[in-house]
Parts: sequence; C-alpha cells; structure tokens
Amino acid sequence: MKKIAVNNIELAYERHGRGTPLVLLHGFPLDHSIWADVVPLLENDFDLILPDLRGFGQSTTVSSPYSMSEMAADLAGLLDALGLEKAAIAGHSMGGYVALAFAKAFPDRISGLALVGSQAAGDTPERKEGRYKTASEVDAKGVQVIADGMADKLSVKQPVRDFVRSLILQQSTLAVTGALKTMAEREDLSPLITSFTGPIVLIHGSVDDLIPVERAQEIKSLKPGAHLIELSGAGHMPMMEEPSETAAALKILK
Ligand code: MLT
Repeated sequence: MKKIAVNNIELAYERHGRGTPLVLLHGFPLDHSIWADVVPLLENDFDLILPDLRGFGQSTTVSSPYSMSEMAADLAGLLDALGLEKAAIAGHSMGGYVALAFAKAFPDRISGLALVGSQAAGDTPERKEGRYKTASEVDAKGVQVIADGMADKLSVKQPVRDFVRSLILQQSTLAVTGALKTMAEREDLSPLITSFTGPIVLIHGSVDDLIPVERAQEIKSLKPGAHLIELSGAGHMPMMEEPSETAAALKILK
C-alpha cells in the first residue's frame, strides 16, 4: 500500500481504476480489504481510493483521544495529497460515520454519499456506556474479545464470518479502543442528511444484526430522494455478501 503523512499519523491507501473519484471507507474494526470483491466491478467507472482508517490495517494511530472530525480531516489530507478537490464517499458502518463527519466539515468536497450498513444517529447512553466497557475489556484481554463478540454477528455466511474474524484479530488494541471511544463520542448527524445536496445511496442488509435496516429507512424518511437499496437476506457486510448489487448501487454516485 502507499502511505501519506497526515495529522501526525501515516495513512495507508490503495488506488484503482479511473473515472469519478470514489472513496471507500471500511467499518470497525476492519480494513480496506473488505472492498476487494467490488473493486473489479467499479474500477472502469471510478477512481477508487481505499484508505485504511487511522489505526487499522497499515495506518498508524495516536494514543491520545481523537474525534470523528479528525478522522474526516485525515481523509481531507489524503484527497489533498492525491490532488483531488472533491470525491464521492461510501462508508461502511463506522466508515459511514467518518463520511458524515467529512460531509459536515467539508461540504464542498463531497459529490455524493453512500452509507453501507451504517446510520446517521449517534449512540444511545446505553450503547455509549457499552463501548467504554468493551474498550476496557479489550485493554485487558486484547482484540480477541471483539473477534468473539462480533465476527458471527457480521454475516450469516460462514466464509464472510471467517474472513472478518481473522481480519479483526490482525488489528491493534490501540486502534480498537481508540475507535470505540471515538464512535461513542460522535454526534448525531441526522440533521446533515436533510441539508445534504448531493445524491445519497443507502445500502443495507435486511438481516443486519449490528445496525438494523430501520436506521437506513429512517434516513430515507428524512430524505425521500435518497436511494435505499435493501438487500434481502444480507447482514452487515453487503460488499462481501452481495458484491454485484452493492457495486450497482454505488454506480448511482458516478
Ligand atoms: C462497524 O461495523 O463499523 C461498527 O459495528 C459500527 C458501530 O459499532 O456502530
């Protein structure tokens, strides 16, 4: 992977294809490789940019707390380094939270938004408390805690579960605890949905066990013009479970 220096970290990324710039942001606690099945389906239409978000994959992180806005600023730094003023952004789950934070901070730099198995709402107090508890457990016992608690909830398909389990086990404790706290402190960006002027694409599995499809339906009700693609029988990993449908939906951002 190539790397750039931004905001005191090294951000690793891959770039494939040509066309409209489209950034694909992975969810928690994964890396860019979750998009591998959709890259060949999109690279004739898009200039695809696939970063590892701070701390994950080959990107480094910091031990001090950081916010979603800082993760969005990492992305702005990456676009600057690539000489791109504007891009469409598709974010999976936590990547969607970063995409929304980017849309808030840099409204003129985002040409379209896709939320894949994600949501605009912030955490409930219970969810927030749960994240801090999980972060303490990960500090004490390592990322195995997350692999055990999360991998089987991500998909009904065993090969997808196996892939994400091994990917989770490759991530560092620091990345995982840092991101848990950042997600806990993120703001509710539902109001941004109504003011967003570009196309919005919502791709969501009908049996997503982590973020229920109702979260996407709520966004659609805030913005009736948004494209909602519900994937029957898919879970939290549409880009791996239904790559053709996911790629076709992302082409709306062309
Ligand atoms: C993710 O898949 O990125 C996370 O499950 C999102 C979250 O925990 O809110």
